[in-house]
Amino acid sequence: MRHLLSTADLAHDDAVDLLDVAEEMTQVAEREVKKIPVLRGRTVVNLFFEDSTRTRLSFEAAAKRLSADVINFSAKGSSVSKGESLQDTIQTLSAMGADAVVVRHGGSGTPQRMATSGWIDVPILNAGDGTHEHPTQALLDAFTLRRVLAGAPASGPAEGARGRDLSGATVAIVGDVLHSRVARSNVHLLTALGARVVLVGPPTLMPWGVDAWPAEVFYDLDEALAAHSFDAVMMLRVQLERMHQSFFPNPREYTRLWGLTEQRWRALPEHTAIMHPGPMNRGFEISAAAADSPRAVILDQVENGVAVRMAALYRLLIGTDSEGRP
Ligand code: CP
Repeated sequence: MRHLLSTADLAHDDAVDLLDVAEEMTQVAEREVKKIPVLRGRTVVNLFFEDSTRTRLSFEAAAKRLSADVINFSAKGSSVSKGESLQDTIQTLSAMGADAVVVRHGGSGTPQRMATSGWIDVPILNAGDGTHEHPTQALLDAFTLRRVLAGAPASGPAEGARGRDLSGATVAIVGDVLHSRVARSNVHLLTALGARVVLVGPPTLMPWGVDAWPAEVFYDLDEALAAHSFDAVMMLRVQLERMHQSFFPNPREYTRLWGLTEQRWRALPEHTAIMHPGPMNRGFEISAAAADSPRAVILDQVENGVAVRMAALYRLLIGTDSEGRP
């Protein structure tokens, strides 16, 4: 694996391998030495053209726990605001000795462009590109779900989930699928790992051609909840910032028909985990009661993001693949 651009590039065994390496990484913070020296002398650049809290901070924490030097670049306040091109920005990072670049960009396909441009010759990790993909988010979601299915604690060091995939699991992904890079990455990854994926949302917020995706599609949340006993219900953030016209159902109607209201989460089966990639619009796509309920694994997802990103950096900069090398 040279880059991490899309979960569509991850075969089943590569995905299980990354989740297993992440299991090892959960041990690091528990040890007396809170860092391991595997990336000592390497420089990881976090290149963020779009806002982020979880992804940027957890990539930084992940790189530092592997002993890498970290350079954080935010487009705001940089020469990008003076009109500097992507090419010149990337070539500047290359000249400064970056060993890996983590990139978030509003343009779908930007990480792919960087990986194939010849402007820089280091691993590129996609931290979210437009409405396209967010592969490390899907990996941390799969990691969390795998723990839940194994009956293990949803985060932290634990036994029981290693080597498993998600066969037999049924997961609902609910809401603004149209604009969601998280949904796209999860559809690829969860199905590669053997899970059944059900997409639910308003017809106006479903992508063109969604019926050809490897997922069942519902336009009515209550129908979907009645039809399946979900292992997890993953609520998506409604991405108002990406909506440029008023096709969207009005917010009150959205919450009533597609929101995880208190009434809906209380009616879920006992075993159903509540997931959300964050940031949440509380009271809109998810009620505070559901988000703060004992079924919610939302903060476990955040915690697992560090271990998963450590695994991704490790595999791209040091390790190889699922066949035990090294
Ligand atoms: N889930 C996610 O990508 O969150 P941030 O935008 O805070 O990074």
